Amino acid sequence: MYKFIPISSGGQTDDLAALVDRVESGMDEGLLPVDVFCDDAVFRAEMVRIFGQAWVFIGHETEIPKAGDFVQRKIGLDSVIVTRDAEGGINVMLNHCRHRGTELCHEDKGNTRHFKCPYHGWTYNLKGEFAGAPHFNDAYENFDRKEWGLRRAPKVESFHGFIFASLSTDGGTLRDYLGDAAWALEAIVGLHPQGMRVLGVPERFQVRADWKSGAENFCGDAYHVSTAHLSAGLTEFIPDVRQVSTIARGYEFDNGHSFIGHQLTQWGPDFEMWAYPKEVREQFDLSKLDEVQLDMIRNTPPTIGTIFPNLSYLRFPQPATLGGRPVPFTMIRMWQPVAPGVMELWTWQLEYACVSEEQAQEAYLAAQFGFGSGGIFEQDDTAVWEGIAKAAASPWNRRDGVMLHYQQKRTGPDPDWKGPGKFHKSIYGEYLQELFWRRWVKDMRGEASQGGAA
Ligand code: FES
Ligand SMILES: [Fe+2]
Repeated sequence: MYKFIPISSGGQTDDLAALVDRVESGMDEGLLPVDVFCDDAVFRAEMVRIFGQAWVFIGHETEIPKAGDFVQRKIGLDSVIVTRDAEGGINVMLNHCRHRGTELCHEDKGNTRHFKCPYHGWTYNLKGEFAGAPHFNDAYENFDRKEWGLRRAPKVESFHGFIFASLSTDGGTLRDYLGDAAWALEAIVGLHPQGMRVLGVPERFQVRADWKSGAENFCGDAYHVSTAHLSAGLTEFIPDVRQVSTIARGYEFDNGHSFIGHQLTQWGPDFEMWAYPKEVREQFDLSKLDEVQLDMIRNTPPTIGTIFPNLSYLRFPQPATLGGRPVPFTMIRMWQPVAPGVMELWTWQLEYACVSEEQAQEAYLAAQFGFGSGGIFEQDDTAVWEGIAKAAASPWNRRDGVMLHYQQKRTGPDPDWKGPGKFHKSIYGEYLQELFWRRWVKDMRGEASQGGAA
């Protein structure tokens, strides 16, 4: 994998605990210390306290359908190999040889029966078990093969084909971790019994912006759309871009997970269920959804969201050609931390298995125009996020403890909401961003539960 060497990082806080306290007390007043977006101590602690604990998304089962398939992924700074074994199981192993520690696998993806270390040739099977070494009988005696397998992630689980792993032996199941957000995810990715499939390999590129800028934007920032993405409106790519935040709503769940929803049916009845064409909608199995889920996806489907810490989701109807009809696409993004104020952005495109190849291609193209690395929205977002990392690294800002503004007017959650979590009829208020930061504080203090209510 290509490795990025950051030219410079941000500052180094003198007292990490005090900075975390400032995030919490700041949130009580709608303020956030800018330092958190580019700071050596913050970054190092995040790698241990967040990425060493949380359930982290690492890929989709349809990327490794056959025995021997593998992909190389990241959990925080750790490279992992994700394999499909002969029994159909999924294994997540640290990509470092147990002999002298060098990296075993240098391929992004492939199919193999074993992994052979390029240094001295120790070999491991698809489950990471030690399988052999050159000149074994001459070189070794009393060798305990069971002791010298690859390190395995203690917890690996899938949710509708989405694979997550946790490096923590404590805490609950993935389902516990997703909490009430699982209820929303069921209605997003669980609409067809054959599930979803990835369209091609994930696209990825590096950005000089902090991973939290992406996660925080997707967790609840509909406010930026009419300004940052104005060009999408001027080109008539999205006709209603100035007004799009007025039809945005907020879904707030436990454990720091949240979604923005858009009342798309305000644009007409064809926009029901993200504007999936009738022939696709008719194939959805809605029998397992409750009344609130059904109403949600018909009228105000979740369009954007973040599963803490660094998995985000995007499904929005957009045209694949200028003036074309809007096509819903599904993107999964991972804000992969690289260094303080630097991330690698990974984007997968997915489509329901029941959708024809032609329609899937159209959706793929629509998404690339908007949110591929050269997409009209993507360029807008990554440019402004880079500015945040610079503000965080600014010696002038840091000297004076500058705080950022999270004080939009709030109207509070809808008291008549019947579903889990909370529903807000207005996206203004930055309440979902506050949810994200309060979860971050808990993790940074080691207080957050990795399953169950936090
Ligand atoms: S480092 Fe892997 S075999 Fe020596
Ligand atoms: Fe954006």
